[in-house]
Amino acid sequence: MYNIATLNKISPVGLAHLSDKYTVVDDVDSATGILVRSQDMKEMDFSKSLMTIARAGAGVNNIPLDRCADQGIVVFNTPGANANAVKELVLAGMLMSARNVPAAIKWAATLEGEDDAAKKVEKGKGQFAGSEIAGKTLGVFGLGAIGVLVANAAAELGMNVIGYDAFFNTKSAHNLCSCVKVVEDPKDMLPLCDYVTIHVPAMDATKGMFNKDLFAQMKDGVTLLNYSRDKLVNEADLLAALDSGKIGKYTTDFVTDGIMCKEGVTYTPHLGASTKEAEDNCATMAVAEIMDYIENGNVVNS
Ligand code: MLT
Repeated sequence: MYNIATLNKISPVGLAHLSDKYTVVDDVDSATGILVRSQDMKEMDFSKSLMTIARAGAGVNNIPLDRCADQGIVVFNTPGANANAVKELVLAGMLMSARNVPAAIKWAATLEGEDDAAKKVEKGKGQFAGSEIAGKTLGVFGLGAIGVLVANAAAELGMNVIGYDAFFNTKSAHNLCSCVKVVEDPKDMLPLCDYVTIHVPAMDATKGMFNKDLFAQMKDGVTLLNYSRDKLVNEADLLAALDSGKIGKYTTDFVTDGIMCKEGVTYTPHLGASTKEAEDNCATMAVAEIMDYIENGNVVNS
């Protein structure tokens, strides 16, 4: 019998795949495996019985990887399992931003209960006139599972799509539609883009990489979309770029103090992977990885 501890809520659809050799517990100390979503595990102590941690998600920046390696704990993630959910929210964010939907909803809500609301709508809606994304250029920075889906979907919506990835591989190339142009240097992409979407993992090497140097290469008034990790963007440089108008709009899936109050910023509270389908897929993949490792010693997606 093995104990599997769950941190955060892990989809019951995934947990149902655990065989009768496993018991789901809350107690991390007695666990052979841990299933985690976004909880920060950096300060957590791990007992000797712990063999593996599986992240029901793509990023593993909430897990102390070096310590796990030292203690022989194998860490898994679930690449691609929530990619469609994130892609859909990126598209929603880009479309809502292009059409000024968040500001328009906020303004329309102020008309609640007003007798002459219809007249006020006619008079006031002009301030929210937006632009269409068809015909605009999107730069996809990072062509992993999510970046590739975003690139293909944006191309289908009529956008010109350019992609860049520091480690572009044949699997990504195979999945990418032929109308997406891939460049070898961000310099060949950023100056052309009306929208830039970030799809790189959070690591020491990528922390703050979206900074004033990269912003300087972008078109004035560009819309920057960040549904990856907030720490990828240098906050001080972002604030300065928003103030100067270099970045026209920042649409993000992170709640960050000091940025949310800025004009042109639209944010959601890290909802990218929060769909029933993605939660089920991630948990199912994570459970399979944990069982395969504990019982057969197989290591996939670690
Ligand atoms: C991910 O890394 O895939 C997401 O952060 C998953 C989540 O929101 O739990």
